[in-house]
Amino acid sequence: MPDLAIRSYLPTDRKAVFRIGGDTAFFGAPIEAYMEDRTAFLDAFYAYYTDLEPEHTWVATADRGVVGFLTGCVDTRVHDRKIRRVIIPRVAGNLLRGKYHFGKRSMHYFRGLLGGLFQKEFTQVDLEIYPAHLHINVEAAWRGHKLGQRLMEAYLAQLRELRVPGVFLDTTSLNVAACRLYEKMGFRLLDSRPDRFWAKWFGHPVDNRCYGLML
Ligand SMILES: CC(C)(COP(=O)(O)OP(=O)(O)OC[C@H]1O[C@@H](n2cnc3c(N)ncnc32)[C@H](O)[C@@H]1OP(=O)(O)O)[C@@H](O)C(=O)NCCC(=O)NCCS
Repeated sequence: MPDLAIRSYLPTDRKAVFRIGGDTAFFGAPIEAYMEDRTAFLDAFYAYYTDLEPEHTWVATADRGVVGFLTGCVDTRVHDRKIRRVIIPRVAGNLLRGKYHFGKRSMHYFRGLLGGLFQKEFTQVDLEIYPAHLHINVEAAWRGHKLGQRLMEAYLAQLRELRVPGVFLDTTSLNVAACRLYEKMGFRLLDSRPDRFWAKWFGHPVDNRCYGLML
């Protein structure tokens, strides 16, 4: 049996976190289903956690290799501000330098994303009650070994120690294992809205969901 463990994130884990982030971004499968070049997504989505708030990220290891992670943020308003002031300018600079490749799949996805924004399909949360948030992913080969649960326990204990009042996360009805995990950890569904883009893709209704936990 491999040696499974949970520990705090180290800067040397960045590559592994980005790899797993890309390999699981399509409802647990690789992002290339809807985006040709994963680097734009990873730079825009995960670099905040690894580069600007690494102290709230946790990794799961098997025989010391990283096989899962939980990226956390204790104050979503700070996250949103730094996304605007640091991450977006950095990604825009990379875009101008031609670092990213956007093909037909990415364009189709971005149109869907914009449509969802205009149609108010994305969930809302009260950040006074639930200031913290998280993202969690475990490599497909290492799911079902309680690593997700242990990552969550480590982060929730950290948030309680910091006296953070509440934590939320965004997911979808398609992330069945994740929704079960959140409910098992005591999260309750705060908001749910139909997502037309993924519903059309999969041919059945899909909901965007927001779960929250008061600590
Ligand atoms: C969600 C995820 C992180 C769970 O991690 P995991 O290490 O496989 O989960 P664990 O082994 O810790 O399981 C803990 C609980 O989660 C739920 N769960 C885990 N896998 C499940 C599955 N396949 N079906 C239903 N529930 C499941 C169960 O409640 C389980 O507790 P139990 O075994 O006592 O019933 C992992 O499945 C994953 O990375 N999925 C793909 C990416 C994703 O959806 N991330 C979340 C995006 S919002």
